[in-house]
Amino acid sequence: MINDEIEILVLYTSKNGGTKQLAEAICSGIESIEAVFSRIRTIPELKQHNHEILIQTSTEHPSVDKSDLLECSGLLIGSPTRFGNMSASMKLFLDSTLDIWISGDLINKPAGVFTSTSSLHGGQESTLITMMLPLIHHGMIIVGLPYSEPDLNTTSTGGTPYGASHVSGQGSGGKKISDEEFRLAFSLGKRVAEVAKKLQ
Ligand SMILES: Cc1cc2nc3c(=O)[nH]c(=O)nc-3n(C[C@H](O)[C@H](O)[C@H](O)COP(=O)(O)O)c2cc1C
Repeated sequence: MINDEIEILVLYTSKNGGTKQLAEAICSGIESIEAVFSRIRTIPELKQHNHEILIQTSTEHPSVDKSDLLECSGLLIGSPTRFGNMSASMKLFLDSTLDIWISGDLINKPAGVFTSTSSLHGGQESTLITMMLPLIHHGMIIVGLPYSEPDLNTTSTGGTPYGASHVSGQGSGGKKISDEEFRLAFSLGKRVAEVAKKLQ
């Protein structure tokens, strides 16, 4: 980060691309605020095979480094829903941030959350809320979406007051996020950027 540039870290993990699309929409919202920039990073996906843990890194965006957390002025984290909760990869990463909790470097920075599920009632809100808990322990200021966003009242896909979301449907994924999902993800990124700018 150079001088008083404001950078917001958008950190996600995604297997089939739904959460990744939300991350990219969130970055557009962040970049819509003057002098605020997005930094997109991924967390390697963990897979278990025959009692072995395999690590798969993204080829599209760089992997996160702890310094990204220290340098950001705000944070958004996104994970696919796994049985109504965040993925093991995201949880493992958050569990590795004890040193940052001790140093208090995330205190008073704004944060938001996002997720993707295959079904409409498959646990988006439980995933979003449980992803907030470690961020609250870090002393972050949680930013959600207000009902002044018209899409919150009308969406028949994803998008919640707790954070941005996507309903990917059955199958192998790859479905494009809906217009409502895009706009709500954009607004969440924009809102975190605005709050970070005010707090700077
Ligand atoms: C182990 C596992 C658990 C899952 N649990 C849920 C769930 O609780 N609710 C749901 O709707 N979808 C569930 N899914 C589906 C994914 O959340 C869904 O495909 C999501 O869109 C994937 O996000 P991605 O495209 O970013 O990888 C699960 C998938 C896996 C592999």
